[in-house]
Amino acid sequence: MKILVTGGAGYIGSHTLIELYAAGHTAVVVDNLYNSSKESLRRVAHIVGVDEIPFYEADIRDKNKLESVFSDHQFDCCIHFAGLKAVGESVAKPLEYYENNMNGTFVLLDAMRRHGCKNIIFSSSATVYGDPAEIPITEECPKGHCTNPYGQTKSMLEEVLKDVQTADTEWNVVLLRYFNPIGAHSSGTIGENPNGIPNNLMPYITQVAIGKRKELGIFGNDYDTPDGTGVRDYIHVVDLAKAHVCALKAISRKCGLGIYNIGTGHGYSVLDVVNAFIKVNGVNVPYKIQPRRPGDIATCYCNPAKAQAELGWKAQYGIEDMCRDSWNWQKNNPNGYQD
Ligand code: NAD
Ligand code: WQD
Repeated sequence: MKILVTGGAGYIGSHTLIELYAAGHTAVVVDNLYNSSKESLRRVAHIVGVDEIPFYEADIRDKNKLESVFSDHQFDCCIHFAGLKAVGESVAKPLEYYENNMNGTFVLLDAMRRHGCKNIIFSSSATVYGDPAEIPITEECPKGHCTNPYGQTKSMLEEVLKDVQTADTEWNVVLLRYFNPIGAHSSGTIGENPNGIPNNLMPYITQVAIGKRKELGIFGNDYDTPDGTGVRDYIHVVDLAKAHVCALKAISRKCGLGIYNIGTGHGYSVLDVVNAFIKVNGVNVPYKIQPRRPGDIATCYCNPAKAQAELGWKAQYGIEDMCRDSWNWQKNNPNGYQD
């Protein structure tokens, strides 16, 4: 299939491109490079053995540019990663987040509809469950209250996409609710490349390990969890990338609407992750317990059985693989794509 990949230069998009090519698909990337660089695409091309990944430097909100992309190509499906994703920043800049994530998706969906491409895989998030009503979380679990504008955009866009599919059943819509993606491609040449101070746990750990930051702050050790620190469902980004290839198969079977949790089903605490990282990589990660971070929940992990049953997808990698590959990327690229 020929796939339009919005946000394909980013962390999850770049890993997904590799799995798409490995499965025999081709891709065209549209990205405004707001949170990424062209270098990731150059490295993806090297890994998959092509001269270049077709790329448009464009904002998906730019109707004219998007129109020219759709005029140049006939797409079978869109994998829609493009969006802003920093939870804290979204609280400070709600309008920017609503405008980019909502309006960007509206412009995209309109162009898709007009050009007869009615298949989409959307990057949703475990954040739509809020403080989950059940653990492990199944897709039946009601969506919860999102404490930040970023999460609201994901939850609202899910509803928009459901409505689009209900109104016109020619659409096939797969909503993938990612849990906590970490890790990197085994080559160590592509990975997560945050700007400034990392918001998420793993990039913070790797930056402490390489000496860019003094110590990790652990946000609370008084949660109702086995060791008091927050528990999450970390998933290797390569496993996550492969879930998109499985979702494409569902789309080619004309699945209609599909909603899937994409996680391993295992919960690890912050201390579990830090200790696994130290053990696997033989490096030191100094840390200090700090107050809880506002908006955090104690425990979040999923039941991924539906994705296995209906998509034939199951995570292969464990927490030690994730820690090894995150470190391999960081130590080979201390300054990310600027190296
Ligand atoms: P990322 O920031 O690395 O990638 C997103 C890409 O979208 C970037 O390359 C950015 O430049 C691009 N982009 C943003 N707005 C755009 C616009 N208007 N037009 C064109 N390009 C635009 O993020 P990621 O971690 O790869 O996440 C990909 C998707 O998955 C996002 O939608 C994110 O919300 C979602 N998601 C991420 C996580 C996570 O923890 N990383 C978890 C759940 C869901
Ligand atoms: C994980 C655990 C922190 C940093 C976020 C978004 C979610 C999704 C994935 C996009 C928590 C603790 C963290 C640090 C710490 N993204 N922590 N020190 O918050 O589970 O999920 O990313 O959709 O929507 O909310 O991920 O990596 O920020 O935190 O102690 O410096 O690590 O408190 O328990 P989170 P995270």
